[in-house]
Amino acid sequence: MPRFITEIKRTHSCGQLTQDDVGKEVVLFGWVANRRDHGGAVFVDLRDRDGLTQVVFEQDVRPEVHETAEKLRLEYCIGVRGKVVSRGGNVNPKLKTGQIEIHAGDLEIFNRSEPTPFPVDDQIDTAEEKRLQYRFLDLRRAPLQRTLMTRARVNHLTRNYFTGQGFLELETPFMVKYTPGGARNFLVPSRLNAGKFYALAESPQLFKQLYMIAGFDRYFQIVRCFRDEDLRLDRQPEFTQIDVEMSFVSQDDVFEVMEGLVRTLWKEVLGVDLPRPFPRMPYDESMARYGNDKPDLRFGMPHVVLTELVRRHQGGGVPLLLDAVNAKGIVKAMRVPASANLSRTEIDKLEEYVKGMGAKGLARAKVNEGGEWTQSPFAKTITPALRQAVNEACGAQAGDLLLFQFGKESTVHTVMANLRVHLAKRMGLIPEYGSGGQWQFLWVVDPPLFELDEESGKWAAAHHAFTRPRDQDVQYLETDPGRVYCWRYDLVLNGFEIGGGSIRLHDPAVQARVFQAMGIGEEEAESKFGFLLDALKMGAPPHGGIAIGMDRLVMLLTGAESLRDVVAWPKTQKGTDLMTGAPGDVDAKQLRELYVKSTHEK
Ligand code: AMO
Repeated sequence: MPRFITEIKRTHSCGQLTQDDVGKEVVLFGWVANRRDHGGAVFVDLRDRDGLTQVVFEQDVRPEVHETAEKLRLEYCIGVRGKVVSRGGNVNPKLKTGQIEIHAGDLEIFNRSEPTPFPVDDQIDTAEEKRLQYRFLDLRRAPLQRTLMTRARVNHLTRNYFTGQGFLELETPFMVKYTPGGARNFLVPSRLNAGKFYALAESPQLFKQLYMIAGFDRYFQIVRCFRDEDLRLDRQPEFTQIDVEMSFVSQDDVFEVMEGLVRTLWKEVLGVDLPRPFPRMPYDESMARYGNDKPDLRFGMPHVVLTELVRRHQGGGVPLLLDAVNAKGIVKAMRVPASANLSRTEIDKLEEYVKGMGAKGLARAKVNEGGEWTQSPFAKTITPALRQAVNEACGAQAGDLLLFQFGKESTVHTVMANLRVHLAKRMGLIPEYGSGGQWQFLWVVDPPLFELDEESGKWAAAHHAFTRPRDQDVQYLETDPGRVYCWRYDLVLNGFEIGGGSIRLHDPAVQARVFQAMGIGEEEAESKFGFLLDALKMGAPPHGGIAIGMDRLVMLLTGAESLRDVVAWPKTQKGTDLMTGAPGDVDAKQLRELYVKSTHEK
């Protein structure tokens, strides 16, 4: 008998055959996804990554083949040869191949399968830990196969797009010198250099700038990055960036190239035409209206900053508000329209929710016909003048609910930002996961170069130290660093930061002043970034770039719930790989070779 694979070659995938193929002799390879034994005939759904095809083994046609087919079990890996037959009236409309079936004449079992720990079905309620432990089975399931195929498509389209735009795909090292700032790095001990460590690159940032200095204008790379951060649904310790750098460009030039990429991806993958250009919003406006720099613009409910109003009214009879303002805090409100119809119990639950984020409580006011407030801790003492001014600032109508936060600026922003999204989900304005068919892209531009580190009281680069300040602000570098704005930008989609970049600082003199403003002396700068500073002094071209978080992009593109659904072999929240058991133990000898001693006590 001829052998499958060596002699009998696959002719089609399991998702390919239609009515047009009826009568053809075909060979399919795949896994048994379903099996029904009807006495005289065994029916099998054969699966590969392209789909399912029904295969029938009839006893009276080929008894010996039927006998083998009776032994088939779920997830056996097999090859079949047979004829494509129309299903006539028994069409299965749910299957791409539902018009036909294969009447098999040959069968080979390549490998049996033990009963699997969970069914390889589209919908399962198996705990994620189990799925990650047997990720190779989890990945056999159609939803994950589709997602990863989309990811492969995004890779391919990205490469085509950039190559078509004259970019070069160039690599950068993963094992690099540790540089402080930015994310926490993974460290790799050096065996050949006692006591020294490499860092795993958190991004190709410095090397892509050096490529520009070396003359390799227009670089891109689809590159793995490593960050030892606390993990969340949208963060993995190793993740992939679509990394880009260009010489002789302005911010507008970078945006045009990147919008072109995103538009291509959305058109090719989803058939969606995105409008261009993408809207832009200054960072300060984003913070004021949405409490963060990644607003979800699929719905309204912006925040209203009341700090100045409260100050002007000297607290307007509400000591708590006055105290907050006097302590350099801020006051924000958000109008929830009457249509939301939140019950008292629901509002109490919201209060619990914000307390979980460090808020002291959730002050509120229900606005009545005359503009008076009820159900409010402020109602009794607030002056009519402040109340009216707040109503006006918020655009409050009868029946609306006003929610307030006041106090430390960063806490107020965060609490109000999360509250806005939380409410929108509860009110059904946006789905819990996925886009709901809406794609609100936004460039957040013009942020401050520095942020004040609340603990140390020092100015630190908000992004990295190599971002170009606005020319008109350079004069404040020494006197008022908080006033220095810069050429940095984030690309936001539906409330997720999917990319970020900047026009770089190519002027060594200004670079030195930026370091100084950050409290980094000449010597320290030299020892940490000497190679880049040297390079900047040797004819560095003006340049800028951006990196898109590929995993986040695919997560949003496919409507996945978490990054773990778009990363084939992801880590858990604790950074572990449940399948292989990484990170694992190594023995003392290995550590000695690396000049490392563990302080961990078992
Ligand atoms: P940044 O640090 O903003 O910029 O990273 C760019 C984008 O990468 C994604 N991202 C992540 N995705 C998954 N898991 C993570 N842990 C994670 N961290 C970041 C985000 C983010 O917007 N070198 C600069 C880019 C530049 O200036 O050109 C950089 O790395 O979507």
